[in-house]
Amino acid sequence: MIIAIDGPAASGKGTIARRLAAHYGLPHLDTGLLYRAVGAAALEKGVDVADAAALAGIAAGLDVGALDAEALKSGAVGEAASRVAAVPDVRAALLKLQQDFARQPGGAVLDGRDIGTVIAPDAPVKIFVTATPEARAARRHRELVGRGEAVSLDEVLADIRRRDARDSGRASAPLVQAADAQVLDNTQLDVEGSWQAALALVERARAAR
Ligand code: C5P
Repeated sequence: MIIAIDGPAASGKGTIARRLAAHYGLPHLDTGLLYRAVGAAALEKGVDVADAAALAGIAAGLDVGALDAEALKSGAVGEAASRVAAVPDVRAALLKLQQDFARQPGGAVLDGRDIGTVIAPDAPVKIFVTATPEARAARRHRELVGRGEAVSLDEVLADIRRRDARDSGRASAPLVQAADAQVLDNTQLDVEGSWQAALALVERARAAR
């Protein structure tokens, strides 16, 4: 069973995906980490976002087993990730790896922006997790402050809006809800409520198969 979880930044899709993977005993891939790793390497090496060939080279050479999720979660890396993710050659270089992960025997849970539309369009379970920009900014602000980053709520909201616009407006695999995805708007829900709602959607999709 492939479970595809998509949604904008700080929607809580990662938490849901991790819990679904644990619940059903499936492997999980946070595909945002791939783009974050490319963004972080580009920052470190001073590679320009216009240099598609160099960025694709970084993407093709990623050691997926060695990604440091904690180190890649900063706001600056998220911004760099969203820039390199708009480069078609980067997306192409990361495509097969994600498709192979999705198609492994027994299934998998993947979360990102284009899982239900591009990576696994045939996934039997697709959830589009979303919330208002204000709710997502408040969550991301709490998370960043908890990590020791000195950032204001207004800055985080502006960053969320910028990333939404870039992720949704890009030509290559933009963030869009798959036509057959179930929407989970968790603006009014806490983490537990969001998890229960997601689980109910997956169980309903499983029962309908
Ligand atoms: O989900 P996360 O915030 O970690 O993703 C970082 C960035 O990577 C996103 O803003 C988006 O631009 C990009 N991304 C993507 N496609 C995915 C996952 C992430 O374009 N499947």
